[in-house]
Amino acid sequence: MIKTTKTICFANNKGGSGKSTTCSNIGYALSQQGKKVLMIDGDMQLNLSLAFLSEEVVLDIAKSDKNLYVAVSKQQDLTDYIYETEYENLDIIPSSTLISGIEYELFTKWQREFIVKKCLQTIQASGIYDYILIDAPPTLGTWVINLLCASDEVIIPVEASPWGLFGLANMFEFLQAIREMAPNLMLLGIAMTKVNTNKKYFKQTQESLYLLEDTHVFENYIRIDSMIEWAQENSKPVGAYKKSARSAHEYAALAKEVDQYVHK
Ligand SMILES: Nc1ncnc2c1ncn2[C@@H]1O[C@H](COP(=O)(O)OP(=O)(O)OP(=O)(O)O)[C@@H](O)[C@H]1O
Ligand SMILES: [Mg+2]
Repeated sequence: MIKTTKTICFANNKGGSGKSTTCSNIGYALSQQGKKVLMIDGDMQLNLSLAFLSEEVVLDIAKSDKNLYVAVSKQQDLTDYIYETEYENLDIIPSSTLISGIEYELFTKWQREFIVKKCLQTIQASGIYDYILIDAPPTLGTWVINLLCASDEVIIPVEASPWGLFGLANMFEFLQAIREMAPNLMLLGIAMTKVNTNKKYFKQTQESLYLLEDTHVFENYIRIDSMIEWAQENSKPVGAYKKSARSAHEYAALAKEVDQYVHK
């Protein structure tokens, strides 16, 4: 049966807001829930790749001719750049540190905002995957525009901290501005991460987010959990590292909510 593939980009110009952690753990949770998932690492920091593959493997791939950077700079079909992970239903296209120079390379290209979209077209049309999840870097430029133009939906992870909402207005303005290029791009919602429910600013962040018009805030939020860092140190999603971890349950619940809420 041909599936409708949904492509979701995890973006927020605020650094350290939980994009890579949320993208990798929702990807793993969806795959465990029987969905076929392709993860794409759009960041030169290689964090999404490191969430599934060892540092040695990630660095080898980054230097090889089979990674996202090579595909995009040669404008090739991304089908040939997919790696399997050790998990069923979960594949990945790793990145390269050279992605840091991609904006400069794209600058002279015809229709430069749509290059990733073109490279992804065959995979999306094939319907092999239920979800393609893209991890974006903490920037707002031509490269992130490329990642968003290739996506159907955006999830904005927001850290529930005093500065967590800082820059969110810029993010909304940015999304609004690129709607002309990507008219079908939808904001799926805001996911709260690194939550400490005992802190006053958690409630403040939650209340401020609820006040935003036309913006869904996911009910399931992710609390601070040191197991996440242990799992990342071992190149594993938290659910694979410790199935009983609190954050593994929270990410599984958030993944279910995303799957229910996605614009089908
Ligand atoms: N729920 C959590 N509990 C504890 N630590 C967390 C949690 N979520 C994320 N972290 C840690 O917070 C840091 C930032 O998270 P992450 O790398 O996912 O953010 P990011 O938005 O992708 O960052 P960047 O903007 O640099 O790409 C990481 O060190 C990660 O291990
Ligand atoms: Mg990241």
